[in-house]
This record gives sequence, C-alpha cells and structure tokens, in this order.
Amino acid sequence: MKTSMAVPPSNAAAGHAQTIAIIGAGGHARETVLLLLQCGIARDAIAGFFVDDPYWSDISVEGFPLRRRGHFDPAHHDAVVAIGDSRLRRTVVESLPPGTRFPGFVHPSVISPADLSVAEGVILHAGCIITTNVQLGRHVHLNRGSQVGHDSVLGEFVTTAPGAIISGNCTIGTTAYLGAMSCIRERQEIGADSVIGMGAVVVGNVPAHATYVGNPARPLTRALA
Ligand SMILES: CC(C)(COP(=O)(O)OP(=O)(O)OC[C@H]1O[C@@H](n2cnc3c(N)ncnc32)[C@H](O)[C@@H]1OP(=O)(O)O)[C@@H](O)C(=O)NCCC(=O)NCCS
Repeated sequence: MKTSMAVPPSNAAAGHAQTIAIIGAGGHARETVLLLLQCGIARDAIAGFFVDDPYWSDISVEGFPLRRRGHFDPAHHDAVVAIGDSRLRRTVVESLPPGTRFPGFVHPSVISPADLSVAEGVILHAGCIITTNVQLGRHVHLNRGSQVGHDSVLGEFVTTAPGAIISGNCTIGTTAYLGAMSCIRERQEIGADSVIGMGAVVVGNVPAHATYVGNPARPLTRALA
C-alpha cells in the first residue's frame, strides 16, 4: 500500500488537450472542482459548470462560467459528471453523446494500493482509504474520508457521503447511496438502488431499492398519509 502524494496516473485529464466540463453546479460539483485543482489541474483547463437550461443564468460559479448543457461537445470537452445523487448521475452520464470521455480523479491524499484500478468517471475525494483487492465500478464517487475494506466490490455509480465505512468482503450494488458516517459490517450485501441513512450501522444484508436507517439499521417505513 502507498500514500499517493502526487497526481496519480489515473488522473487522465492532467496534461490533456481537451478542457474539462463539470456537469452540474451544486455543492458536490463545486467540491469536485476543488478536488481537480488540488489534483494539479490548471484553472484554464476547466471549461466551466454545465447545467440544463432551466438552471442556467449568466453568472459565474467559483470563478468559472455557468454554461448550457447543449454547449457540451465531446470533441472539445472531457466530462466530469459531478452529481452526488447516484441515480441522477447515471441518467446524466447515459444522456451524454457517444464517445464522451470521463476521466477519473483521485485526490493526492487518498491512501490506496499502487495497483488500484480507477475506472472511468471514478472520483475519490480527500482522505479516502481504500485497502487491498477492492473493485470500484465506473462512476463510483467516494466522498471525503470514506473507507473501503479488503475484497469489497462497489458497483457502478455507487456514492458514499463523507465518512462512510465499508468493511471487508462487502458487495455494494449499482447506484446505492451510503449516507454520511454510515457503517457496513463485513460480508454484507447492499442491494442496487438502496439508500443507507446518515449514521446507520448496517449489520445485515439490505435488499435492492430499500432505505435503511438507525443502529442497528432497519428499513425506513412511513405511515400512510
Ligand atoms: C435516510 C434518508 C435518505 C431519509 O430521507 P427522507 O426520505 O427525506 O426521510 P425524512 O427526512 O422524511 O425522515 C423520515 C423519518 O426517518 C427519520 N430519519 C431520517 N433520516 C434518518 C437517519 N439517518 N437515521 C435515523 N432516522 C432517520 C426521520 O426522523 C423521520 O422519522 P419520523 O417519521 O419518525 O419523523 C436521509 O435522512 C439521510 O440520512 N440521507 C443521507 C444524508 C447524508 O448523508 N448527507 C450527506 C451529504 S454530503
């Protein structure tokens, strides 16, 4: 295992001729731009924040232009889809033109094995710790301070909020969302599209499409209106 102190090879956009389009302009997008700058990406290599027309206005965000999604051009832009909601991120990725390139970024403070494979669109924010034999699917976003233990497999578009802890030998299904400071016990399966609430302590398997909260985590059920 090594501590990455420099721009790792997985930061594919570093030194690339294309400029980077940040898709989204919310808090997660603004934090992702900070990550890119801390990865050594030059400000003039960032083309701006790209949003759908209803969200567009003639303003700048973090000193970068807000631009219309229709101005995204894969011939000139690489895409960083910086949307924290797992399912919405997948929808937006799938809506972009064929041939769009999605570089991955790993913050220099991330601790991970030298041979960690970073698939397209993977974003690992500051302070994450990834241990041995972990698989991260395309477009996985691990927010700051998340940890993933040995032999765990995270499906495409999984998102962790800050401080989430995934123990060893876990399987996290596609587009699952793990809330801030949630913990997953070793050898558990978290179903696709499920949501784990902030602070939940998950000690059993979670079915697909479910929302679990609490310690020990239980399904969130709502009284009928
Ligand atoms: C679990 C979660 C998705 C539920 O959101 P929601 O569907 O909007 O649910 P509500 O806020 O309407 O709450 C419904 C009930 O669940 C409870 N609840 C909500 N989140 C909870 C949590 N994390 N742990 C325990 N109980 C929780 C509420 O108190 C409420 O209880 P009540 O019906 O007895 O009043 C959400 O609260 C959550 O934890 N999201 C993750 C947030 C996060 O990590 N943010 C980081 C951003 S970087």
